[in-house]
Amino acid sequence: MPDSQLVADLAGRLSGKIIVSSDVTQSELENLDLEALSTKVLKYFEGRDGIKVLDRETLKKILWVQVEEKAPMQIEISKPLDYKPLAKDLDAEYRIRNIEAEHTDSSVNAFASYFNDRFDRLREFFGSARGTSLGSMLNSIESVKQYTTGREVSIVGMVYDKAITKNGHLLVTLEDETASAKILFVKSSRENSRDTLDLFESAKRIISDEVIAVRGKISGGLIIANMILWPDIPIRPRKKTEEDTAIAFLSDIHVGSKLFMEKQFARFLSWINGDVDYRRDIAEKVKYIVASGDLVDGIGVYPNQDKELSIPDIYKQYSVLLDYLSTIPDYIHVFLLPGNHDAVRRAEPQPALGKDLIKEFSRSNIHFVTDPGYVTVGGIKVLGYHGTSLDSVIQAVPGCSYSKPQIAMTEVLKRRHLSPIYGDNPIVPSKKDPMIIDEVPDILHMGHVHKNGDSDYHGTLIVNSGTWQARTGYQVKLGHIPSPAVLPVYETKGMTLSTVDFNTV
Ligand SMILES: [Fe+2]
Repeated sequence: MPDSQLVADLAGRLSGKIIVSSDVTQSELENLDLEALSTKVLKYFEGRDGIKVLDRETLKKILWVQVEEKAPMQIEISKPLDYKPLAKDLDAEYRIRNIEAEHTDSSVNAFASYFNDRFDRLREFFGSARGTSLGSMLNSIESVKQYTTGREVSIVGMVYDKAITKNGHLLVTLEDETASAKILFVKSSRENSRDTLDLFESAKRIISDEVIAVRGKISGGLIIANMILWPDIPIRPRKKTEEDTAIAFLSDIHVGSKLFMEKQFARFLSWINGDVDYRRDIAEKVKYIVASGDLVDGIGVYPNQDKELSIPDIYKQYSVLLDYLSTIPDYIHVFLLPGNHDAVRRAEPQPALGKDLIKEFSRSNIHFVTDPGYVTVGGIKVLGYHGTSLDSVIQAVPGCSYSKPQIAMTEVLKRRHLSPIYGDNPIVPSKKDPMIIDEVPDILHMGHVHKNGDSDYHGTLIVNSGTWQARTGYQVKLGHIPSPAVLPVYETKGMTLSTVDFNTV
């Protein structure tokens, strides 16, 4: 190799924007990833004026920053020879349904068609097939205007506005494609019947842009409500399988953060390989792992994030993550969805992680899925979603909190929409609303809030899988207490959800 080849290579990558000084020699560049280095050099000179020269001193400075990075922990997994997991003998059975946006421009028309689709499809859930007392009695808002006081009507509308009157009643404006109507929910008081109390409490949970059905009596220009319904999911028994398998749930791993709990994550990897005695009965059933976002910490997600990173290079964050996940036995299928920290478009639905980020990776048991996305494993339909909209739902719906994410997740299921409040959580302008829950999942899995939580709603298991990142300064400021390194695992035959705590193992 000629003495100056690496220097010429680096100069070529800097494409004439930065001059490489003659005091930079081959020996300084040996064993370095020139692609990563050229990115760092370009970043270093970004915004600097004058002739840009990369001399030996500057190179050292840039490399010194590189040396400052904390090397990722080397995980060594020993695989016990006598470990014969049940799941290894079962055939994998999985189907992925990626949720994609039908791109449009961001014109007014595009958003109008997005909202029309949301309204039309959510309205269908109130049809007579659902067996509600509304059924075919539904009226268009325009048509109810002809009726006189006392007439009972049922309408479906999208929530345009919600306000408290000076007497403390709740006034909700609903609209459909024909007109808008004002609905009054009478304030509860001791004299009111139990029904009125319940109705008023329910109505407090109404949020902007959702679609609801209301029944009530016409009174002047208002409708006095006596019933409210959400699109909701049907009640059915929890799905059970013949095969005795288990699904483990991960989220918010945050590889690349200084607070990523690599020791605990390494213990999880040892456990899944049968090298930890604790709850081995569950480990040996795990056939599938669903990981719903924030797989890495990312870069530039919030101001000054670089100070919190142990790996300030996005490609390296993913390559370290995949090195870790490659230790998972190949009979276990792993489904990876992105989250708001991952290096894909922030607006939802988020595309699956692509080849541009993950190079030279060819493990056939690791699959990349959209956020949200449906993953049906062994006959169990899992709806995975990172859960970025939980922030706005927790804020808007009374009774929701960061400490019990399963409550907000239930509210989302009732609304048949993963991101019901428009505006706080960016969405891709799309002809159809991709965030509608059009298939009822057996399991709804989310992360994002870094807190474990689970419940059952109408036969759907709700799981939030917490995090593998220690408490951040931001969480301290907000008073959030995360529950890191606690792995939920669902056994599909026995229908039991267990949590395996890797803080103490
Ligand atoms: Fe996260």
